[in-house]
Amino acid sequence: MFVTCRNYHFVILATLSVCCLLPVVAHSEVTTGQLSIGRDASAEDIERWDIDIGPDGDGLPAGNGTAKKGKPIYEAKCTSCHGPRGRKDRDKLAGLSGTSQRKTIGTYWPYATTLFDYIRRAMPPTEPGSLTDDEVYALTAYILNLNAIIKTNKKMNARTLPKVRMPGRDRFVPDDRRGGPEIR
Ligand code: HEC
Repeated sequence: MFVTCRNYHFVILATLSVCCLLPVVAHSEVTTGQLSIGRDASAEDIERWDIDIGPDGDGLPAGNGTAKKGKPIYEAKCTSCHGPRGRKDRDKLAGLSGTSQRKTIGTYWPYATTLFDYIRRAMPPTEPGSLTDDEVYALTAYILNLNAIIKTNKKMNARTLPKVRMPGRDRFVPDDRRGGPEIR
């Protein structure tokens, strides 16, 4: 009754701050259940996100494909941006020699397995994740074939893809420096 208008606001603000802060301080380890928002990730959720492929092929799924099968898929879903046979200058996928300084798949990528991983998770950019594993194997085979790394009918699968030796592999060396002024 005796507080001024300004003090009244102060009392309300102070009370609100204490009320808002208390639960956070008291329950710093909140779980989704306590807040009633979100849910724990299920095994299927984790499986859908867990798609990375190791350089040695670890994580490659079942399925297979050849360059022959990949060609029509490429022409339907990739040519618009990468050009016929991967030669469009921007985002070029093939057509450079192994000694070119420009970084592309045939000149620079050290592992063929990365190609599978990249296409499956990112391409086409308008619909990432929309390709089946067989389609990704076929597209991987097609791009490797465009770079003259494998033959048209060579089947790519979890066993054969890690064995493909990329021309750019030797451009990388293990980093075994132990510190100090050494430069490699
Ligand atoms: C809408 C245009 C578009 C379409 C369609 C598209 N791409 Fe791409 N792609 C890109 C762009 C842009 C990049 C470069 C992305 C970056 O560097 O972040 C790229 C990069 C790539 C790369 C990596 C190239 C490198 O040397 O780094 C591969 C491999 C690739 N795309 C394959 C495909 C395949 C296979 C398809 C068809 C299924 C496809 N792309 C469809 C736009 C497209």
